[in-house]
Amino acid sequence: MLIARHRGWEIPESRVTPESAMLNRRGLLAGAGALSIAGAVTAHATPNPKFTAGRDLTEEKYATTYNNYYEFNDSKSVSQQAQALKQRPWTIKLDGLLKTPRTIDIDDLMKQVQTEDRIYRHRCVEAWAMTVPWTGFSLSQLLKIAEPLASAKYVVFETAQDKTAMPGLRSPNYPWPYVEGLAMDEAANDLAFMVTGLYGKAVPPQNGGPLRIALPWKYGFKSAKSIVKITFAEKKPMTFWEGIQASEYGFWANVNPAVSHPRWSQARERLLGSNEMVPTQIYNGYGEYVAGLYEGRKSEKLFM
Ligand code: MTE
Repeated sequence: MLIARHRGWEIPESRVTPESAMLNRRGLLAGAGALSIAGAVTAHATPNPKFTAGRDLTEEKYATTYNNYYEFNDSKSVSQQAQALKQRPWTIKLDGLLKTPRTIDIDDLMKQVQTEDRIYRHRCVEAWAMTVPWTGFSLSQLLKIAEPLASAKYVVFETAQDKTAMPGLRSPNYPWPYVEGLAMDEAANDLAFMVTGLYGKAVPPQNGGPLRIALPWKYGFKSAKSIVKITFAEKKPMTFWEGIQASEYGFWANVNPAVSHPRWSQARERLLGSNEMVPTQIYNGYGEYVAGLYEGRKSEKLFM
């Protein structure tokens, strides 16, 4: 077990973010301009005005070069290596408790959904944060396509295991594959968002292309990358990080500044790029959408 092992996502930001990562106001404005141009060339995505960030966007170069993707390696520098992950053909297996188990090609899936742009805050459990413009579609649309049975209580995401492209899979220290999950009512929540784009382009492999999920009210490890299988289950799944260390990384993993990680405070977060420290908000500021989900679950460990 990895109890004493130092994980990549625990590397202090000071050690991994170069000095040049400091943004000035001009840089941010230039970033925003580039976004609107790129946005214009993104096919069929309409910005959803409900999901605005309330803070400056993280510059694309930081969001796409400072990544957690353990299948490649456990540093933050996976972006070069991740280019080896082939994004097509790409299929997603739908199985478990649903009307018709089947495998669906991502391009066929894309023809069946309505995409939109959403700006979300992302809060990693390591206390860094970014604000990024995603393109994608609500998970609820995928649920309608999949037609889960009433007995399905959880949805489980399994991610790619390409042994040729992903050297991290050779590490026996991790319980591959990377698995994450949600209760069905969380999955049906409007905020749960399947991501296919980032900054007006296809989502790059290092950020979880061609299909990942974004769950902005939860710590970032819940947002599984490069999804290849979605299973509907009656029982709560054992998830990747919970399987490694349940006392530090639970199933619910909702953001809460008042509940410390056993080894560090979650009260504040460092904004990627600027290194500015800002207060963390409960449910990462998305309580109006999701707090109701947990009213009947007060006895659970909701925040770790
Ligand atoms: N998904 C897979 N398959 N493998 C991973 O290592 N890391 C998680 C999550 N999804 C991870 C994953 C963690 S810890 C975080 S914070 C986010 O992806 C990081 O997403 P980003 O690299 O796009 O910022």
